[in-house]
Amino acid sequence: MADRAEVVAILVAAGRGERMGTEPPKQFLPLGGVPLLTHGLAALSSAPSVETIILVVPQEDPAPARALAASFPRVRRIVPGGMTRRASVAAGLAVVGEGTDYVLVHDAARPLAGPRLAEAVLAAARRWGAAIPGVPVRDTVKQVAGGEVVRTVPRESLATIQTPQAFRTDWLRRAHEEVPATAAAPDDAALLEVLGLPVAMVEGQRDNLKVTDPEDLALAEILLARRGRGPS
Ligand code: CTP
Ligand code: MG
Repeated sequence: MADRAEVVAILVAAGRGERMGTEPPKQFLPLGGVPLLTHGLAALSSAPSVETIILVVPQEDPAPARALAASFPRVRRIVPGGMTRRASVAAGLAVVGEGTDYVLVHDAARPLAGPRLAEAVLAAARRWGAAIPGVPVRDTVKQVAGGEVVRTVPRESLATIQTPQAFRTDWLRRAHEEVPATAAAPDDAALLEVLGLPVAMVEGQRDNLKVTDPEDLALAEILLARRGRGPS
């Protein structure tokens, strides 16, 4: 793929959803009557900056994701994922066109992220090179070992981080190529941090929860119903 694009989005939906424990995996479960994956495709499709979407799908059974993607013309490539989230992002990145300035990486497990959030992280990435959404931690945070409190962690400088995350394409490629597979990488920004590349944080969306287990899905239903069907 050698197309010239300012922004390409990679939507990773190749996980097995083991903590949810359903078959099919969680990205195909309904939320407000629509599969989680469809929410992600709709949000990215209505973000004006996103020209192309690369969808990363389960290697063993790509058909259901392919069927859902058929309604979204911005999905130009569908590629099989890997064993880890990082490997799945790398599989998407491998087919990002040479002339692409920015890559937006998003999880199908975050169905409530809206196009405005995508635009906000992209705007910050155009300025800083990389940007991620986060929300300040409100709970008291403690380090705990073996059921015993070790200490209270000052939370003023802590935030919980979401997707979508936006990166200069060259930085994201470098991060995926150069950071060893052994490094802890819960998200893509973590790879840039290892290389010392700057990552800006923008205000996240409070209700942009990650659907991990059945309780999260129940909560997501409430949040979705509260704000109506439209993306925010
Ligand atoms: N993901 C992926 N490829 C993997 C693992 C995860 O594309 N090998 C995607 C998931 O589909 C999800 C996102 O990365 O959209 C965040 O991962 P997570 O919430 O952990 O989903 P799963 O790995 O599927 O769930 P679990 O960890 O419970 O198995
Ligand atoms: Mg996982």
